[in-house]
Parts: sequence; C-alpha cells; structure tokens
Amino acid sequence: MAEQPHSFDKTYWDDIWHGDRAMAMAAGQPNPHLIREIGDLAPGTALDAGCGAGTEAIWLAAHGWEVTAADISADALARATEKAAEAVVSDRVRWVEADLSTWEPDARYDLVTTHYAHPAMPQLEFYDRIASWVAPGGTLFIVGHLHRGSHGDGSAHGHGHGDHLPPASASATAGAITARLDPASWDVSTAHESQRTVVGPDGKESTIHDVVVKAALHQ
Ligand SMILES: C[S@@+](CC[C@H](N)C(=O)[O-])C[C@H]1O[C@@H](n2cnc3c(N)ncnc32)[C@H](O)[C@@H]1O
Repeated sequence: MAEQPHSFDKTYWDDIWHGDRAMAMAAGQPNPHLIREIGDLAPGTALDAGCGAGTEAIWLAAHGWEVTAADISADALARATEKAAEAVVSDRVRWVEADLSTWEPDARYDLVTTHYAHPAMPQLEFYDRIASWVAPGGTLFIVGHLHRGSHGDGSAHGHGHGDHLPPASASATAGAITARLDPASWDVSTAHESQRTVVGPDGKESTIHDVVVKAALHQ
C-alpha cells in the first residue's frame, strides 16, 4: 500500500531523528557547497536554520564563526551537542530548539544558511523568512532540494535511505528563489542547480539534485 503524503511537521521530524535513519543522517560530511562558497568569507555571526545533527554548524564554528544552530528536533540537537563537544567547538555554537516557521531571532546574522531544511510551510516562504534574518552587509546561503517538476508526495524521500527523491513541495529552483530577492536589496552571486553522487553508510551510491543560492544583503 502506498504511504500517505506527509506534512513535514514536528512529529515527522521527531520520528526521523528518533528512528533508524537518524544515524545515517548524522554521519554526513559538511556540505560541499558550504565549504566551496563560504570557506573564504570572513567569519562573524551565523545562523544554521534546520541544523539537524550539526555537521555544518560545527564546520562553521571550526572556521571561526559564532554560530546559532536551530532545529525543531530535540533528538537532532542532542546528537549535535555531542558532536560539537567531540570537535571541541561547543563554546562557539548555541543550540536552539525551535520551530523556525514561528521562531523569531533576537538578532540579525552575518550569515544565514540552511541545508535541505523543509518545514511544514511553503518552501519559498521559508526562504523569505530566513532571508529577513540576514544583517545588513550579510550573506544568505541556501542549499536545498532542487525542484524537478512534479515528483510526488515525498513518501520515497531518502533522509538516509539513499533514494533522495524529495516531494515537489519541499523543493525549489534557483530562479524561483532568486526571483524573491529584490535586486534593490540583494546581490546574487551564486544561483545554480547541480547534482552530485553520495555514498550512503550502506555503501550504495545515490544522486542528490541541489539548488544553491548565495546572496549578499546591501549595507
Ligand atoms: C533534511 S534535514 C537536514 C539537516 C541538516 N541541515 C543537514 O543538511 O544534514 C532537515 C532538518 O530541518 C529540521 N526542520 C524541519 N522543519 C523545521 C522547523 N519548522 N523548524 C526547525 N527545524 C526544522 C529537521 O528537524 C531536520 O533536522
């Protein structure tokens, strides 16, 4: 019987981070787009929106950023906290358990980044929301699931299983994201769509289709 389409709400993410996919999700390497695009940026304050088990937040902290890392799942943050202690960067990361569709930060950030977070709200509205948290002169860096037409309800979505077929509602194109960044306020330096092969913990290869957008907010 086909799985029902799901809402990507707290229950969904709690189940993911409590379930058998969690170890595979937590074992990932820092996102290669982040390393390539942000590696040369002078560090400041950063927000990782939907940080999961903290791999990118820890990478940022290790590269000099003062990181706030937020996720809706307490289990994800528990894994992240352990990994940060192992990496000896705990003093540079503040972990926040929050629903980013309603949470409001108490500051703006020099870098706001997100990697594949897709909450229970329209994807592009989520990107609008996190864009509003960038400080003047700061950077928005989005890595998301690429929209590839109508590709289902997400019941086959990987999250560690290796298939990586996100639901259409959780994906976006580079053009759709950049169309919402007013050129009077933003300079877009990266807007690309790409694919890469990853090897899961079971040794199986799979292809991830990414959308990557980097934009600087005017002073
Ligand atoms: C596909 S995982 C990606 C995790 C991590 N960024 C990575 O790339 O490995 C998406 C993350 O977004 C988080 N998330 C989803 N909806 C959220 C929300 N409304 N508020 C905060 N975090 C959320 C999930 O708990 C999950 O950790």
